[in-house]
Amino acid sequence: MTLLELTDVTASYGKVQVLEGVSLQVPDGGAVGILGANGAGKTTTLRAISGTVNVAGRITFDRTDITHSGPEKVASLGIAHVPEGRGTLPNLSVRENLLVGAYLRKDRGGVSGDIDFLLELFPNLGRRIGQNASTLSGGEQQMLAIARAFMAKPRLLVLDEPSLGLAPSTSKDVYDSLQRLREESGIAMLVVEQNAPLAFRIVEAATVLETGRSVLSGTAAELKGRDEIRKAYLGG
Ligand SMILES: Nc1ncnc2c1ncn2[C@@H]1O[C@H](COP(=O)(O)OP(=O)(O)OP(=O)(O)O)[C@@H](O)[C@H]1O
Ligand SMILES: [Mg+2]
Repeated sequence: MTLLELTDVTASYGKVQVLEGVSLQVPDGGAVGILGANGAGKTTTLRAISGTVNVAGRITFDRTDITHSGPEKVASLGIAHVPEGRGTLPNLSVRENLLVGAYLRKDRGGVSGDIDFLLELFPNLGRRIGQNASTLSGGEQQMLAIARAFMAKPRLLVLDEPSLGLAPSTSKDVYDSLQRLREESGIAMLVVEQNAPLAFRIVEAATVLETGRSVLSGTAAELKGRDEIRKAYLGG
């Protein structure tokens, strides 16, 4: 089943149109990538989904039209966003950040069970559970941002460049954790990434954006075989 579908989505900031016909689909439980250079419109595509930019076209989530839904409605339907730059709350502890992620939930038992699950998945967070988020390393902060988004119990996790600013080995750790999170929870993911080899560690399909348009879409295997993808994103 298709969980998220964008059909011919356009988006603009004031009078400046930056997306012009973006289409993509994320299957339930699947992982899909959005690749593209700086300024291609990747973050704007995620903002279109989470309802923080004006859009035209059509966006559906689990068959509900969310094209013009605001961010609270989109979140309540089950889409959680891990923004560019992470956005953890620096003066709150790791545990408090996780609880903030769960603030709309009423199932206290489920919340503490999910915290246990995440601390097992991210042992570094477990060791730093009482520390302020500001004292974590960049990789740990990214893992906290992912864990916090997961605490909302979403069906789709939308991630904006989770590798940004991280050392290569730390980026791999983050992607390995994302993969385990998928395997163990069945959550679907839509991942924006400039580093295509990293994205291809977890995504089954991807779409390439160029100046606000989807110019190429396919399975990971198809895309990895394309010359233009190899040259532009895979180092030859
Ligand atoms: N708040 C804004 N107001 C006006 N223009 C914006 C705004 N945010 C982004 N843009 C413009 O929209 C275009 C797409 O930006 P976007 O942030 O979506 O790109 P991106 O693919 O995420 O790039 P990057 O890889 O650098 O994060 C760019 O030309 C950018 O300058
Ligand atoms: Mg961006």
